Parts: sequence; structure tokens; C-alpha cells
Amino acid sequence: APPLKVERLALSRFTTLGVGGEAEVWTVHDHAQLAAAMQAPYRVLGGGSNLVISDDGVPERVIRLAGEFAVRDLERDASLSSEREYVTGWIGGGAPLPGLVRELARRGLSGLEGTVGIPAQVGGAVWMNAGTRYGEMFDALYSLEIATPGGVRVVTPNDLEHGYRKSGIGRDEIVTRVRLRLGSSTPEEVTARMTFADEARKGQPKMKTPGCAFKNPGGVSAGKLIDEAGLKGYRIGNAMISLEHANFIVNLGGARAADVLAILEHVRSIVGVPLELEYELWP
Ligand code: FAD
Ligand code: EPU
Repeated sequence: APPLKVERLALSRFTTLGVGGEAEVWTVHDHAQLAAAMQAPYRVLGGGSNLVISDDGVPERVIRLAGEFAVRDLERDASLSSEREYVTGWIGGGAPLPGLVRELARRGLSGLEGTVGIPAQVGGAVWMNAGTRYGEMFDALYSLEIATPGGVRVVTPNDLEHGYRKSGIGRDEIVTRVRLRLGSSTPEEVTARMTFADEARKGQPKMKTPGCAFKNPGGVSAGKLIDEAGLKGYRIGNAMISLEHANFIVNLGGARAADVLAILEHVRSIVGVPLELEYELWP
């Protein structure tokens, strides 16, 4: 494996919001390097697509999964598969989800179509059970390899208390690899379902953003509630509530984490329903 890499870097370049100060970034390529990185307080960075990171950065080590944690083996594992179920080899937690979803379509493998357009890494998407009304990560999981400070374990989805935007995986646990449980279909059918799911994104902004700010309370669209409160276009500094979808905060260029936090606070003070944050705030 390539050697462990430890660098002081601005985290803004790793987030879809484009905000975040410096931290010590540990890029690990195998289990030995990961175990070393986990010896002191750490955080794990995925695709950075759900993060609002302080302009001062974070004091902990920031772990990035690369090397063997970023490769994917999509061959059918005959010993685990059945006539109805196609079980894959291991897919690294650091592998980009969009590329995986495209490759599954190319191979005519069905199960993750609903997650099309989510700019995450596999591990990050699993950690929060990312999804849409057309499907979520746990629909297609067969097993997960999880690294903890106490060692590595393999679990099944049934071992975890997962639900809407929630996996039941602990704060200090790292999803290093997963196996998927898929259905055999055709590229045409899988692509058609992806195109259908992608239609729901037409109203989402194509700007620097960490996705939806709040979870939908009790199945109601938080975006609809924020919109009805008249908050589209509400701006602090260079952060603004999107004019297209009110549950998205966008970076107009040079926004600061503090601006985003101030907007979140304002929204909560105006909207009459308690809103649970979907973003992760670092620190
Ligand atoms: P990060 O943002 O890097 O991290 C988020 C959390 O996951 C952190 O706590 C981090 O420590 C943890 N984490 C990351 N990797 C691992 C790992 N390997 N093991 C353990 N923990 C890990 N989300 C949806 O659910 N549905 C959507 O439709 C959706 N649409 C989006 C559209 C856009 C344009 C954007 C920018 C975001 C959208 N999101 C959506 C939000 C985001 O993509 C998800 O929350 C996703 O799960 C974040 O994954 P990530 O890899 O980017 O994680
Ligand atoms: N709406 C408004 N105004 C707005 C936004 C939405 O009136 O500003 C209305 C829409 O017109 C529609 C309804 O609210 O009638 C639902 O909107 P939408 O279809 O956009 O879905 P959502 O519930 O707001 C959820 C997820 C998204 C996911 C989409 C598509 C959450 C918090 N959000 O949004 O996930 O992409 O469905 O499936 O669950 C994310 O989690 O980061 C995310 C982007």
C-alpha cells in the first residue's frame, strides 16, 4: 500500500459547501494505517457533502479513506448469492457513491437507483443511511465491515437500528467496506429507474451546498415549511437560503461557517415546527 500521508490542509476543498478551516488530514490506505490513525481523537471525512466545518477547522485528526478502502469488487460472490440475490464482493467506504451507482446501471444490477445524485462516499452514505423516497442505502446492504478503536467487526444491517437518515452506527465507528445485496436486471431498466428518481432533483440548486439542512419532520417537507415562512433568499454574509428549494443553504462565494449557522438559527426561530438538523457541524 502507499505510505500513510499526514498533511495540514484546508478542509474547504473537501466539502461541497466549500467551507472549512485547517486540520491534520490522515489519508489511510489499509487497516494498519487506519488503526494507527485511530490512536488519538479523530473524525472521518467522506464526500464532505453533509458537512458545515468551522472556519477555524477542527483540532482532531481527520481521516480520509483511500487505497484498499476506495476500491470496489462488484463480482457476484457465488458462495453468498442465490438465484434471487446477487451479493457483491467488498466495496470500500471511501469509494464515491455516484460512480458506483453508474457502474451498477452499466451492469444491470438493481438496488441503489434511488440514491442517484447523492454526492457522497459509500461509507458516509451508509453512516447516515442516505436516500430519497425512491430508496436508501440500507435497502441494498448485505454486510458491513466497521472499524472501531477496539478492532474491526463485520455486521449485517439487521444488527443495526437504522431508519430515516440514521444507521445506528456509532460516532467513533468507521465504515471501511460493505457488501451489497442486489437484484439482477438490465441496464435499460436500472437506468430508467435512475432517471425517474433523478427527476425529483430538478428543483434542487446546482450550487455549493451541503444538501438539505434539516430532516423532514414527520414526513412533511422541511423545505416546504421554510418556503411557506417566506425565507427563500434570506441571506447572511455570502450564505443564502436557495431560491429554488428552501431546505438548501448555498454558498454564493466566500461564505463562512458562522453565516450558515446564523441562518440555521434564524430558520428555527421562525418556523413553528421543531426542526432536527441533517447537516453535521464540525466541531
Ligand atoms: P460527509 O459529509 O463527509 O460526512 C457526514 C458524516 O458521515 C460525518 O459524521 C462523517 O464523519 C461520517 N462519515 C463519512 N464517511 C464515513 C465512514 N466511512 N464511516 C463512518 N462515518 C463516516 N442526502 C440524502 O440522504 N438524500 C439526498 O437526496 C441528498 N441529496 C444531496 C444533494 C446534494 C447536492 C448534496 C450536496 C447533498 C445531498 N445529501 C443527500 C446529503 C449528503 O450527500 C448525505 O448526507 C451523505 O450521506 C453524506 O455522505 P458523505 O460521504 O459526503 O459524508
Ligand atoms: N417544496 C416547496 N418549497 C420548497 C421546497 C419544497 O413548496 O422550497 C414542496 C415541493 O413543491 C414538494 C414538496 O415540498 O411538493 C416536497 O419537496 P421535494 O420533492 O423537493 O422533497 P423534500 O421532502 O423537500 C426530500 C429529501 C431530499 C431528497 C428529495 C428527493 C429530506 C430532508 N430531503 O426533499 O434529500 O433529495 O426528497 O427525494 O429528506 C438531503 O437529505 O440532503 C436531500 C437533499
